[in-house]
Amino acid sequence: MASLNERKVAVVGCGFVGSASAFALMESGLFSEMVLIDVNKDKAEGEALDISHGLPFAKPMSIYAGDYKDAADAAVVVVTAGAGQKPGETRLDLVKKNIGIFKSIIPEIAKYNKEGILLIVANPVDILTYAAAKLSGFPENRVFGSGTVLDTARFKYLLGEHLDIDSRSVHAFIIGEHGDSEIAAWSSANVSGIPINDFCEMRGHFEHEKSMNKIAENVKNSAYGIIEKKGATYYGIAMSVRRICEAIIRDEKSILPISSIQHGDFGIDDIALSMPAIVGRNGVEGAVPIKLSDQEKEALKASATTLKEVLKEAF
Ligand code: NAI
Ligand code: 2OP
Repeated sequence: MASLNERKVAVVGCGFVGSASAFALMESGLFSEMVLIDVNKDKAEGEALDISHGLPFAKPMSIYAGDYKDAADAAVVVVTAGAGQKPGETRLDLVKKNIGIFKSIIPEIAKYNKEGILLIVANPVDILTYAAAKLSGFPENRVFGSGTVLDTARFKYLLGEHLDIDSRSVHAFIIGEHGDSEIAAWSSANVSGIPINDFCEMRGHFEHEKSMNKIAENVKNSAYGIIEKKGATYYGIAMSVRRICEAIIRDEKSILPISSIQHGDFGIDDIALSMPAIVGRNGVEGAVPIKLSDQEKEALKASATTLKEVLKEAF
């Protein structure tokens, strides 16, 4: 059994999301080796070469196209392989096709790599995270999805714009499904410790309900708007992948809303969805059950029910 190389990442699927993530990971300096894997070998080779040509401007590393056995010692395997949404499709519409792809990919990864972390990105990410945990047989802490890390970034960005402040000073989460039933957790949202509505008033905004609805809807529909205009989303998710890998490789124990299998918090069990969790070198190191209003708890349960129905049909 290959022992892990702490400085190695594998990216499975080299389309828009996989190649943008690979580029962001190369720029991060977190890894010294990166293998790109795709059913379309030319695509993986082309991306590996193109990204490698930026190395004289970055930190030294080896980037190459390979096969699953080359991922045997990767500390993190990022899985982006799968169809994306076409304009008008939801993420859940992708489930049958992408579960089929996962049934071929995940056992191949697990055949060679026994100790690494599987970071699932392909959609519907919550369903595929659950499927990957079961198909790999890995302990649950080592299989999780990017979940609502991207939606939370969109939320912080939009709040930063609304309030004309640095989005990094906004502390707020999108939770639940990475998709149409996601929830903006307004009751815990704050700007540097100041409750969100108080901060809004400091900045001259008083129509809280109207603004909250508008911002949450905007977050939820972001991907639809981008896919309509340019066919796919990839830069935002690439930065999210980089941030999650950073938390893992640097053992940061950062609190990120990744998607993982739930075990009873808020009455939700045996389904993967996003809740803030501690992320470090062991993957998901603990749940952070933030305080939610009764309405948010109900919406979270409804999100879990939606996902369970899809999972029952597809897996
Ligand atoms: P794409 O179509 O550009 O790339 C998919 C890649 O997967 C292709 O290169 C294809 O050859 C490869 N692939 C397909 N079957 C494979 C197999 N059996 N083995 C290895 N490689 C295989 O799609 P794109 O835009 O890169 O999206 C990928 C996935 O990421 C989609 O499911 C999309 O919905 C999802 N996504 C997830 C986000 C998130 O926040 N979780 C954000 C954006 C996209
Ligand atoms: C996104 O939210 C489509 O899941 C993808 O950008």
